[in-house]
Amino acid sequence: MTIETINRLESEVRGYVRNFPCVFTHASGARMIDEDGREYIDFFAGAGVMNYGHNHPDLKRALLDYLAEDRIVHSLDMATAAKARFLERFEEVILKPRGLDYRVQFPGPTGTNAVEAALKLARKVTGRERVISFTNAFHGMTLGSLAVTGNSFKRAGAGVPLSNVSMVPFDSYLDEGKDQSLAFLEAMLADEGSGMDKPAAAIIETVQAEGGVNVARTEWLKELAAVLKRHDVLLIVDDIQVGCGRTGPFFSFEPAGIKPDIVCLSKSLSGFGLPLAVTLMRPELDVWSPGEHNGTFRGHNPAFVTATAALEFWVDDHMKTETERKAAKITGRLQALIRKIPVRAELRGRGLIQGIEFADSELAGECSAEAFKHGLIIETAGVDDQVLKLLPPLMIPDADLDAGLEIIEKVVQTVAASKTSDRKVA
Ligand SMILES: Cc1ncc(COP(=O)(O)O)c(C=O)c1O
Repeated sequence: MTIETINRLESEVRGYVRNFPCVFTHASGARMIDEDGREYIDFFAGAGVMNYGHNHPDLKRALLDYLAEDRIVHSLDMATAAKARFLERFEEVILKPRGLDYRVQFPGPTGTNAVEAALKLARKVTGRERVISFTNAFHGMTLGSLAVTGNSFKRAGAGVPLSNVSMVPFDSYLDEGKDQSLAFLEAMLADEGSGMDKPAAAIIETVQAEGGVNVARTEWLKELAAVLKRHDVLLIVDDIQVGCGRTGPFFSFEPAGIKPDIVCLSKSLSGFGLPLAVTLMRPELDVWSPGEHNGTFRGHNPAFVTATAALEFWVDDHMKTETERKAAKITGRLQALIRKIPVRAELRGRGLIQGIEFADSELAGECSAEAFKHGLIIETAGVDDQVLKLLPPLMIPDADLDAGLEIIEKVVQTVAASKTSDRKVA
């Protein structure tokens, strides 16, 4: 009866519990288990937190060993062996092989902390206030991050004006065939009469996850980086949801061959669901004064331990190639499904973030609810919740991936058929 306790005592603001109304007690790999022992296949992965699956044994072992030895848990931003080890391995395994040179800031444990730090730093470095963001962006719930977020419902929650931001069209927002978004942005930046104050930075998700699985094309990202460079505007990539391997490579921007000035990571960084976030910056941009941006939970040692263990998954190409293999399977199955259904729908995504956008926005929510009844956890995305969003753990076993896809195929066909028969009746 614990769900009643939650409904009685937890604030009305609670969200996911309404879509997935059961009490979870255990989880392992790509499966979550509720208090009645019912198993669910997880195509949600904690909104991108569980890339390596729930309770990965290597990470759990590292954490249990650390705790068993009475090692330090909390230390604000004092030096600890766990932090030093994480930084060392992050440099060796992630930064150096990619030719990236970044200083690492621990801004507080959540994604929005990393975004706030990035925005503050860009403003401090350049002495400019304005930041460019993109239609349908999502960067978090604190005021700075909300200001660069598109969703009007979330923005309204701020209760104060959200300022010093110019929203411009994301890739293919206006006209998919002949996208003019970057020509528009460059004209705005170049023209003294455009009315756009010279910005400090532009912040972008290479795949807008919450915004509806909108993918920026590689060429578009390359050109965006070039436009910003020509106008001396910093590029911030928010890789909080689609970094840590979600699209295949560790950083989602790698295929575009760009080197952002600032990068935000969180969600799957600790690999184990423990809160951890970083803001990475080119060394020349590291103009912070000591303690100018701080927070009590900046560098949670258990999270460093599991994050360091998770970096071992990246010492070779296996994660990337496996993600790409599974992604190709999903794409093929969903394309075939879309061809079969009698409603308008479109597939989008990159790597293991893919979505079916329905022209009739209600369908995505109905499919998610129906999938839950069949034992699959899958959420919706987009401003009207019009996209059924697949976000399985990268390490999902093939059997679970296939079983989850079968549920999707079944419920999408059933829900789509019920819509067309409704229409015939009406
Ligand atoms: C791209 C992106 N940025 C920032 C955030 C905010 O992260 P958090 O909820 O940990 O503050 C999210 C969360 O979904 C996100 O997807």
